[in-house]
Amino acid sequence: MVDIQKILIEAQEQLKNINSSEELSSFYQLYLGKSGKVTDLMKLMKEIPNEEKKNFGLAVNNLKQSISTAIEEKEKYFIKKKIEDSINNTKQVDLTIPSCKKLKGSLHPITIVQQKVIDIFLSMGFTVEDGNEIETEYNNFEAVNVPKNHPARDMQDTFYLDNGQVLKTHTSAAQNRIMKKYGAPLKAIFPGRCFRNEELDASHENTFFQIEGMMIDKNVSISNLIYFMKKMLTQVFGKEIDVRLRPGFFPFVEPGFELDISCPYCNGKGCRVCKHGGWIELCPCGMIHPNVLKMGGIDPDEYQGFAFGLGFSRLAMMTYDITEIRLLNSGNITALSQAKVK
Ligand code: DAH
Repeated sequence: MVDIQKILIEAQEQLKNINSSEELSSFYQLYLGKSGKVTDLMKLMKEIPNEEKKNFGLAVNNLKQSISTAIEEKEKYFIKKKIEDSINNTKQVDLTIPSCKKLKGSLHPITIVQQKVIDIFLSMGFTVEDGNEIETEYNNFEAVNVPKNHPARDMQDTFYLDNGQVLKTHTSAAQNRIMKKYGAPLKAIFPGRCFRNEELDASHENTFFQIEGMMIDKNVSISNLIYFMKKMLTQVFGKEIDVRLRPGFFPFVEPGFELDISCPYCNGKGCRVCKHGGWIELCPCGMIHPNVLKMGGIDPDEYQGFAFGLGFSRLAMMTYDITEIRLLNSGNITALSQAKVK
């Protein structure tokens, strides 16, 4: 006699150890498949004596039912587990975490100041010229009235290349080229990077920026120089700026001046920036030396002109309250991006 109860217990025991859908379908085949144990029992039916058929049939049916239900439950459990596992393994997104800020680039303080000054001069009818960073010694020195062995060369020691050319020490180096290119009259500015062999400190760099300006015409005088400088600086600082000239020596101008501006921070009352004097030394300038005009192919008896060399690095530092010149070439984004277009 077949022990149906034993088959059920055995099936229940096996089911407990089943851990995957694949194992479960083998289990199904083992009991309910074509030649599974339960199916075989049903085939036995015809050999069972008539009086026992009913009980046997009932018992086999119950067995089939119990095993089917157990398989279904196990199947549901596997599906649920699969969903739960996939939820648990998915990276959780926390929408409340503050997003990481994208670092946006910003214009370099020198670029901002340069664009501003260029715009102002363009509006006054000046053209903008390019200067070379590598210059001939002639353009950098001789053509601006600094002959070989002149003591003024000491103040502008620079980097000499093997071919005898130099890294330009000032934007004045482009004066001769521009005079030869346009002749007189002319109104031009030329911004550029300059280089000097300097001992570095908070206010001295080997690489810095200047903008040079020249106006040459008939009857140009110091009044024109003062007018343009005052106009330009008033616009740069966004407030009325007074200027004053003190004598200064530069071989390429005669007379030469140091141009001071009334302190834009305290309006001339005296503060930390102007060292309590009310004035800030800003921009060397002067009337172009007749020798320089001559070397540029312009007749000094017919034409006169003024020239100035404004330190952009200095101006950017003043505008953005930067106290360390070396920051300007440092590539320190945190410091440099603090300058905003004003
Ligand atoms: N080139 C001079 C320097 O870098 C600055 C300068 C002085 C430029 C007087 C000028 C000028 O045009 O007239 O030290």
